[in-house]
Amino acid sequence: MTTHDLPARTVARLKTAARRAARYAYAPYSGFRVGAAVLTPGGEVFTGCNVENSSYGLTICAERAAICRAIASGKRRILALAVYTPANRTRMQDEAIAPCGACLQFAGEFAEDAVVILFSGSRTATVMLRDLLPCGFKLK
Ligand code: THU
Repeated sequence: MTTHDLPARTVARLKTAARRAARYAYAPYSGFRVGAAVLTPGGEVFTGCNVENSSYGLTICAERAAICRAIASGKRRILALAVYTPANRTRMQDEAIAPCGACLQFAGEFAEDAVVILFSGSRTATVMLRDLLPCGFKLK
């Protein structure tokens, strides 16, 4: 898989799903609503949003929420991951923001060869997961 292997319509489908998922984010503490969508080899799309907690460290990121839904539905491989982050009011321009290190490590378990689509407002960046996390921890 390379960043060019995903058909434009699949990218569009993942982006729409991720943007919609962000609507369900539970983010009363940060106000930062993230949506994620993962694509399996069978063409299924699973979505997730961030779920915060008053004990801040328990917060679940959107990416991990989406990956857990795929795994809990019996899938074991992820071909692509789209992540929508809102345009940040504190910045002059919206930009595509990479997943946190924990989510990259978590995704690497199932999505070693995956394409990651990062987008926010009008900005989209398409990168390989292995380029975001070249030296992830592995036991097998
Ligand atoms: N967040 C994600 O959902 N994904 C990431 O990759 C980084 C951060 C969420 C966690 C928290 O609810 C909010 O964004 C601010 O950190």
